[in-house]
Formats: sequence, structure tokens, C-alpha cells
Amino acid sequence: MTKYIGILTAGGDSPGLNAAIRGVGKAAVGHYGMHLVGFRDGFRGLMENRTAPLEGGQLSGILTLGGTILGTSRDKPHKMPVGGKIRDMTDTIVGNYRDHQLDCLVCLGGGGTQKNALRLKEAGLNVITLPKTIDNDVTMTDITFGFDTALGIATEAVDRLHSTAHSHHRIIVVEIMGHRAGWLALGAGIAGGADVILIPEILYNVDSVAAAIKRRSRGGKPFSIVAVAEGAISTQEQARQAAMEDKKAKKAKKAKDADVEEPEIVYADRTIKLAQQLEALTGLEARITILGHLQRGGAPSAADRILSTRLGTAAADLIAEGRYGVMVAARGEATEAVPLEDVAGKIKTVPVDHPWVESARRVETNFGD
Ligand code: F6P
Repeated sequence: MTKYIGILTAGGDSPGLNAAIRGVGKAAVGHYGMHLVGFRDGFRGLMENRTAPLEGGQLSGILTLGGTILGTSRDKPHKMPVGGKIRDMTDTIVGNYRDHQLDCLVCLGGGGTQKNALRLKEAGLNVITLPKTIDNDVTMTDITFGFDTALGIATEAVDRLHSTAHSHHRIIVVEIMGHRAGWLALGAGIAGGADVILIPEILYNVDSVAAAIKRRSRGGKPFSIVAVAEGAISTQEQARQAAMEDKKAKKAKKAKDADVEEPEIVYADRTIKLAQQLEALTGLEARITILGHLQRGGAPSAADRILSTRLGTAAADLIAEGRYGVMVAARGEATEAVPLEDVAGKIKTVPVDHPWVESARRVETNFGD
């Protein structure tokens, strides 16, 4: 029986998404003779039944293309903004899946997408996911596609920032993405030779960072590069946030206005504040660079092209075998089908004793602790 496959990309865009779409598609259509239809803009396009043809040559020329030809969104099937309200649109999605007579829905995404895919599995759909994100924070897989490319972009940025640091005797604080995990900042910090690496997994003390910078200065190097993960937080900031949460909870209980939201801490605010503190504590000028979405842009690296192709074609193999409800995980040179229940709702953070952390400490990198 010819199988009908749906595919979508959800969450933040990432290098390698189109390579993965190509891997799934060329294997499913070309090798196994299946039919393939794309849904636009993540789960929203599936809910609105907005499709994209993928069997008429659309898979050619996309291996090296950044972003996603299908478009993406962060919309969730069970909490979708529709007509100004947040609605559970799972039933509509199940209906569209059935109307297309799909045998399987392939979802390319990060942690949130794994959770959404599990929900659709529980609603009775055959789903397979691929682990995508520049953050590398999806559990049960060695690595996610997008990470290697972003690591290269961030590393090159750190390399370039050394020029102004040593020319002007400055502290350069460079903010690196990664959401709640420090993989990208840790990797780019090591590869780019940052003197300080601050990650969410290791609470930092700004006095420790300043002391390390002053030691370098006294040793004849009055400049430093501080690679800070956007989710990194100081012990002081953590205490402040805990107190704010506590006050908010008390206020909500009293006034029953549970919806009162304190202003979100904007990552950049923390980075600006850190640079100001370091300038005051060390007497060196400080400047900041926020890499932002540069880290998600452009052509995927060779490693990500290979990874995306491996994971995509493995997904087609699983569909041919009729194995669903799993994420295709990278395991060394092979892949492994991991039950979505073991992935959804979890995040892979940097172990504080990870070999990368230990190696960085051996070359005198300061972690603010
Ligand atoms: O998850 C990938 C990521 O780039 C994170 O590193 C970052 O915090 C987030 O997405 C930014 O989200 P958006 O693109 O919606 O601003």
C-alpha cells in the first residue's frame, strides 16, 4: 500500500531544516514511492489545512538553504490563538490529518515540538519527530541539527571580537543564544578562546568574573572576552527573581489577580547590566555584542547537512517499517528511534562536570564561580 506522509517544521527556524525536509522527502518519495505533502508554518498550517506541494521538484536545491521552505511558528495544537482566543485545536488537526489520509506526520522541531507531537500521538496520530534546534537542548540525542552551524557562527564572532578587545584594552561581553541551556556559549567560548564563559547551569558571581579580568590585566593582558549565554544568571539575580516570584505569588493570592505579570526579564538587560558592573569593578571599558538571530541564519554547515540527511532518511525508513511515536535520535554514526514519552517535557542541559567544562577550566577559563 502506498503511504501518505505529512511534514511540518515548528519552533524557531534553524540551519539544516531544509536539508532534513529533503532527506525525508527524497527517501520517502524517491526510494520508497510514498506520497509527501508539506504543511505551512508549523502546527498552525496543519490546523488551517494550508499545504505545500513537495513532489514537483521542490526538494531540489534546498540542501544548502537556511530557514525552512515550509515556514514555521511556535503555535501549539492545544493552545492555539484563534479569533482572538486561545483554543484547543487538536480535533481540527486530527480531522485534517484524517482528511489527507495520512499514514504519518513528520514534525521537525525542538523541545516544544516533541511535546506537541506526543500530544498528537496520544490523540491517535502516527507521528515521527526529528531533533532540531541551535540550542542542542533536546534530550536522548547526541546532538540536534542546527547546533553545529550556530556553533561555527558564534565562534567566528568571538574570534573577531578579540581584535577590538586587545586593540582598545576592553572587556567585550558577547551574548550567545541557547535559551535555558549553555551548550552554544560553552562551545563557542572554548573554540573562540573566551576568557570567561557564563552559562545557565553554573550560577555566577560578578565579583569572581571581575577578579579574573583584573588578574589578566595585572598579568599584562588588559582585555578580556566574556561569552555569556542568554540564559546565564548571577547568584544575586537568581535571589532577586526568587523574591519577585514570592512577592507575586503572595500578591496573587491576596488580590486573586493571578494574571498580573511582572515584566519579563529581557536577556539583553542582564547582559548590559553585566557589562556595566564589570566596567565599574575593573576600570576597563566594556562593550557588548548580542549575536541574536545571526546564529540561526544562512547555509547549514557540512556536518549539519550530513546529520539532517541521516536523520531525515532514517525517518523514512521507520515509516516504511511502520514504526511511529518516536523521535529519530543521533547516536554516534547511527540513529535510534526513541519513544516520544522519553523525550517530551525534558531538556538537556550542560552537566557542571562535563568534559568541555573541565577542559575549559584547565586552560584557565573563568566560569564566574
Ligand atoms: O530555540 C532557539 C532560539 O534561537 C533560542 O536560542 C532563543 O532564545 C529563541 O530561539 C529565540 O526565539 P525567537 O526566534 O522566537 O525570538
